[in-house]
Amino acid sequence: MKKAFYLTTAIDYANGSPHLGHAYEKILADVIARCKRLTNNKTYFLTGLDEHGQKVQQAAEKEGISPQQRCDGIALEFQNLLTQLNISNNDYIRTTQQRHKSVVSKLLQDLFDRGEIYKAEYKGFYSTRAEQFLQEKDKIDGEWPKIYGEVTEISESNYFFRLGKYQDWLIEHLNKNDDFIIPHFRKNQVLEFLKEPLNDLCISRPKNRLSWGIPLPFDENFVTYVWFDALVNYVSACGYGEEKFDEYWPADLHIIGKDILAPPHAVYWPIMLHASNLKLPKQILAHGWWMTSGEKMSKSSGDTVNPLDLIKKRGVDPFRYFVMREMTVGQDADFSVERFESRYKTDLGNDLGNLVSRLFHMIEVYEGGVVPEVELNEEFEQNIRSNFEKTKSEVLKCFDLFQFNQGLNQIFVFIRSINKYADERTPWKLAKSDDPKDRLLLKTCLGVMCESLRLAIQMLAPILPEVHSRVNQLMGLPPCESWETDLCWDFRLAGQKLEKKIILFPRD
Ligand code: MSP
Repeated sequence: MKKAFYLTTAIDYANGSPHLGHAYEKILADVIARCKRLTNNKTYFLTGLDEHGQKVQQAAEKEGISPQQRCDGIALEFQNLLTQLNISNNDYIRTTQQRHKSVVSKLLQDLFDRGEIYKAEYKGFYSTRAEQFLQEKDKIDGEWPKIYGEVTEISESNYFFRLGKYQDWLIEHLNKNDDFIIPHFRKNQVLEFLKEPLNDLCISRPKNRLSWGIPLPFDENFVTYVWFDALVNYVSACGYGEEKFDEYWPADLHIIGKDILAPPHAVYWPIMLHASNLKLPKQILAHGWWMTSGEKMSKSSGDTVNPLDLIKKRGVDPFRYFVMREMTVGQDADFSVERFESRYKTDLGNDLGNLVSRLFHMIEVYEGGVVPEVELNEEFEQNIRSNFEKTKSEVLKCFDLFQFNQGLNQIFVFIRSINKYADERTPWKLAKSDDPKDRLLLKTCLGVMCESLRLAIQMLAPILPEVHSRVNQLMGLPPCESWETDLCWDFRLAGQKLEKKIILFPRD
């Protein structure tokens, strides 16, 4: 059985409504999944919801409903967002599902049986907001940073996972596998984190303090720490313990935000897997943050952007285009409505929308709606073809390296060059001429423009799936399924009757 390219996103916390940050990550993963499918990979794309923990329990209590009821409502909201964003995930895992809970129990029991988990008395500081134990070294200038909220001193029995003994192994793994974490500069941050001695991880919470969690299989007075529970989703969704597991695991790519790289994904998770004798994921991609007013957009900052508002105004593809074009993967980006509107009007409206509408209009008026044969091969035409070949190889390289903003930039440079080619060939003037050479030039110009547009649209398919299927439909083409077969300059549209032009990106 051929192994699938298995990619995952973070599973969102069920403690608030989705915002631009959540939407971005899902779109990024979706674009990568679509690129993989177009390059003939069997792909399995997972996303989901992280439902346990104190914050969820408290929010439910406040609303006077059960935590499960609250999670069910939030799951609907997040799933609706996925639909609105046109996300092509193959699975959606919720950590309250039985398939997940039983894998968490199985892994915990196994680690406990092999002495990797032990019980001990814990005395120290605890942050309810971060749901995490703290140490003196977490203080900044003698104070607990604001992100921890109220910090209290507690003393209680808990279960600990032997993280510390794997510290040297993890450092060696990071040093030997340069591409394990990308962008590469993030690996150094993880190594920096690992310069301090690694404490064992407290993986339990007493039930009398927190009941909303997966009970420890070996002690029912405790539930599992939410991070230990959540990370396991990556193996529980693809059938850990079942035969099909090897078709998926190890994951090829975990896509997460930079805030949850170290320690959860780059320290706890690799060690949890290694201690459980499971293979490590091949790569972790840590993306940056969407910022508003200089701060990370988040529920607690209060200054969030609801993606559904932007989609309602401009449609899903302009939103997908904006987030992929504006953000350099791995770095932060500022959100502004002006930038969004400017991308919509300039790149999408003036460059792409205008090309589609002028080309379809000219073919309708000059050629009765049928794409003409291309019979001439002059310098202008050769230039545009070699331009395409160069663009294609650069775009595919950029996409492969997750440099989507650069790849998109190249595609739009190419789209502008098609418009420029038309401005130079002036088909509207050629159409008025009786000279047979001009008639031939006109047909050539329109045929070359059609071929160039067709190819640009196939390259845009992962980012603009709706535009891609609409334009392909107008051209009488099925949706692109493979770049290998569809990204070839072969004038396959010659003789094709086109449908009437449409306005892809209407102005207000
Ligand atoms: N539940 C955990 C993840 C568990 S994964 C086993 C969590 N949830 S979250 O809802 O807080 O965040 C989900 C994802 O959205 C994270 O990867 C996070 O980095 C990302 N984003 C949340 N706000 C963001 C921005 N403002 N910008 C970009 N992405 C950010 O963490």
